[in-house]
Amino acid sequence: MKKTVKAAITGWPVAHSRSPLVQGYWLKKHGIDGEYGRCAVEPETADEFYRNFKNSGLSGGNVTVPHKEVAAKACDWLDEAAQAMGAVNTLWLDDDGKLCGANTDGIGFLGNLDQMAPGWDDNPCRAIVLGAGGASRAVIWSLLSRGFQEVHIFNRTAEKARDLVAQFGPKTFAHSWDKVEDFLGTADILVNTTSLGMTGKPPLEIDISSLPKTALVTDAIYVPLKTDLLRKAEAQGNRTVDGLGMLLHQAVPGFARWFGVRPEVDDELRALVLADLGQEG
Ligand code: ATR
Repeated sequence: MKKTVKAAITGWPVAHSRSPLVQGYWLKKHGIDGEYGRCAVEPETADEFYRNFKNSGLSGGNVTVPHKEVAAKACDWLDEAAQAMGAVNTLWLDDDGKLCGANTDGIGFLGNLDQMAPGWDDNPCRAIVLGAGGASRAVIWSLLSRGFQEVHIFNRTAEKARDLVAQFGPKTFAHSWDKVEDFLGTADILVNTTSLGMTGKPPLEIDISSLPKTALVTDAIYVPLKTDLLRKAEAQGNRTVDGLGMLLHQAVPGFARWFGVRPEVDDELRALVLADLGQEG
């Protein structure tokens, strides 16, 4: 008899993760006999857990904070993005029981923009990225992979922006936060990866009136779905894309790997997750 494939979101904590909702939607939609659950991994045991993943009873899974780096170190094989980021969010066991890891946050960012703003990268010149954390790393990697010539990074802690430049090389530039408005006039895309503007966090206070009307504005935040940044951009005629699709698209490669079908990010899934977040589309 064929064994039921089991996958799970692993991390600490995992109670609020939307991954089971997303994966469960696709399992049902495709009528697949698979399971996707939650697996809380205490920080003290994380290294051991990922190094012994083949004994966990899982065929694969996702990894969330704070274990993305520990899990990457435990992998026998990493995809290119995971190598660049030193972090994984997707795991699977190969036929020999070796642990493989991928980082699909960048794929999530690109999949979202490709779906919601087709042609967004037709003329990949100058990008502005706000923030220098984990999400920023994935966004920078993605923009460079699509041929952007200049990626300008602005962060409260300038040193972290400089670290990213040291990693990603000559097409990236680090700036202090207060200089961002000087650079907006020639931007093709503006991406917020900071937590500013998220429900419960301080607002993102920048004047974006000098942005060219052709520039795309996107936010990695999805609570609220329409951030003040997106509202302002929309009001002045810029194309905008919210952050929910990044969350949904990053889940696609894992499902395809574990369950053998490449799923779609459709309106029904968006509505389902939005309702769970207590928001409307
Ligand atoms: P993620 O993995 O989602 O990127 P993170 O690594 O904690 O999360 O990064 C959060 C980002 O939001 C960082 O760029 C952080 O700036 P610092 O590097 O200076 O901490 C930014 N951020 C968070 N709160 C901020 C605030 N009050 N003002 C400016 N930037 C803020």
